[in-house]
Amino acid sequence: MHPLEHAVGPPGGELEGMAAGGLHDILGDDSNRSTRPPSYPDRARPAAAARRRGGAGAAAAENRRGNRYPPGMADEDAAPVPTGAAHLRLLERARRLAVEPAAGHPLADLAAGASDAVVAAARGLPLATVRGLRSFYDQLGDGRRACDGTACRFGGGEALARRLARGGAVGTVRCLGHCYAAPSFRDGDRVFARPAGQPLEAWLAELDEGGAPGEAAAPIPRRALIEPAVVLRNLVPGAAPAGLAEYELPGPERILAALEASRLRGRGGAAYPTAAKWRAARDAAGAVRWVVANGDEGDPGSYTDRLLLEEDPHAVLAGMRACALVIGARHGVLYIRGEYPRALACARAAVEAARVAGHLGAAFDVEVVAGAGSYVCGEETALLRSIEGLRGEPSPKPPYPAERGLFGCPTVVQNVETLAVVPWIARGADRPAGAAPGSGTKAVSVSGGVARPGVVEVALGTPLARVLEQGAGGPRPGRGWKMALVGGPLGRVLPADRFDTPLGYDTLPGLGHAGVVVLDRSVAVRALAEHLFEFARAESCGSCAPCRIGTARLRDMPDRPRLERLLDTLEIGSLCGFGQGVPRPIRDLLEHFGDEVFA
Ligand SMILES: Cc1cc2nc3c(=O)[nH]c(=O)nc-3n(C[C@H](O)[C@H](O)[C@H](O)COP(=O)(O)O)c2cc1C
Ligand code: SF4
Repeated sequence: MHPLEHAVGPPGGELEGMAAGGLHDILGDDSNRSTRPPSYPDRARPAAAARRRGGAGAAAAENRRGNRYPPGMADEDAAPVPTGAAHLRLLERARRLAVEPAAGHPLADLAAGASDAVVAAARGLPLATVRGLRSFYDQLGDGRRACDGTACRFGGGEALARRLARGGAVGTVRCLGHCYAAPSFRDGDRVFARPAGQPLEAWLAELDEGGAPGEAAAPIPRRALIEPAVVLRNLVPGAAPAGLAEYELPGPERILAALEASRLRGRGGAAYPTAAKWRAARDAAGAVRWVVANGDEGDPGSYTDRLLLEEDPHAVLAGMRACALVIGARHGVLYIRGEYPRALACARAAVEAARVAGHLGAAFDVEVVAGAGSYVCGEETALLRSIEGLRGEPSPKPPYPAERGLFGCPTVVQNVETLAVVPWIARGADRPAGAAPGSGTKAVSVSGGVARPGVVEVALGTPLARVLEQGAGGPRPGRGWKMALVGGPLGRVLPADRFDTPLGYDTLPGLGHAGVVVLDRSVAVRALAEHLFEFARAESCGSCAPCRIGTARLRDMPDRPRLERLLDTLEIGSLCGFGQGVPRPIRDLLEHFGDEVFA
């Protein structure tokens, strides 16, 4: 089946046959705990599902992704699923684009203010598909949006949102990647963040007086606790920018051998061996292959990819080119979250410069695509759907993208930081990175209750306490540490007495992209729990019932047994890593803080 068929489902097929009873079994009351496997998705009969649940269940069937199914809503009001001729048009478009990619992207058209009808006509998409896009992505269009990422939420973000609201409607964004200068907000393509050292009240007073203070201008602080730095090799103080020299690469066999020897594992969260992925894509059947750089960096608290894209984009593009050489790809896509306007501009300029210098172009070219606000689009299959111009809804794996990815072609999806490390490895420098399984270096984004927030590169296995003390200057004066959220809202919560935990993919599963937000003693455990619940509810894509409904019910769970049961349901029943990962930090909160979660 073509991946687009996975995305929209065959007419009258699985969606129609969704077992209504499964929903009740999955999320049923205490007396009815089902052992049956979950069935999903429940998109075709959402209203019926909501009516069956009634009350809390009905309210639960809501999220911000255009999946709102209040009680009594007629089935025919549900978001249209393309069928028949529209479905065939989508498939035809996919086949065409697989061979000859079109310039531009429907999300860009919508973000620029084009109407649904114009985009549908211009892109050859069914109108229903374009409407589906508009309801799915929540950062389309201009307007002011206050950042509600973790560092901003607990660093004055609520006060900022209240101030901004005095001047008119204010939306929400998670996250702008200015966690080290929280709180922050965006106004169209401009981002504003509190300058280092300026007291919050003084900065807010500036807002009261003159509207928006100056745009965020300070560079992202960075330092390395290892020698030599790898991720930050071109960025630490004293480093000479490598620029176009990053494209000096050996041949494909040597690149792959170097990668294999390094045992590099992906830095986006799943920690999958990079060389194995490239081999699989190279060996998969197909005339066309793709390289996709994942610059969605959705974890609130992570801003390493933003740093790389803005200040060292040639390292990332050269990593893509290395991958293209190995797998035999002619096309690449660099997908960057729309919340990073400067990174988008820098990456586009770098692509142009690389074309002029002959490093990109006829043999292998890269298109930069902007996201438009969806955390789940960082998940690799959702990312591919988003690049295809569809709603960023994950599809089941297998097939994995290396086998059947973008437009049905073998595709390597690789995190920005992973790619930035590749040229260094490929050139065979004398390296500590990946010298043994689980070793290598990782850039950790630190924010929250530390004296010197910033990106800190360390050897994997370094205890969190050392990162915070030596890399981030220790706690702020007079503010003792209580806990840290590590790896974002699907990551881990470590209490301060566990800060000796080594940061590694095996020592701390859930490390993710290694964003660390340190919370001091002023932050209540319930407040962090509420933040995690709200994030999960808002960012669920709504495709599968356990996650769509389960994430909405988290905050209503009155006690530990019921909450734990719901977490089991999410873990077992969810289609993708989002619903499966939501329980992880909540379980940590329960383990370390017990009933404070319900206080
Ligand atoms: C909900 C969810 C969100 C994700 N977000 C990102 C992201 O923002 N950036 C990223 O590189 N990987 C993200 N991932 C992991 C990707 O699916 C994929 O594993 C990764 O891009 C592969 O690159 P890597 O091997 O270099 O890590 C996410 C996964 C899930 C389940
Ligand atoms: S688990 Fe959540 S995010 Fe993933 S497909 Fe299901 S609803 Fe979407």
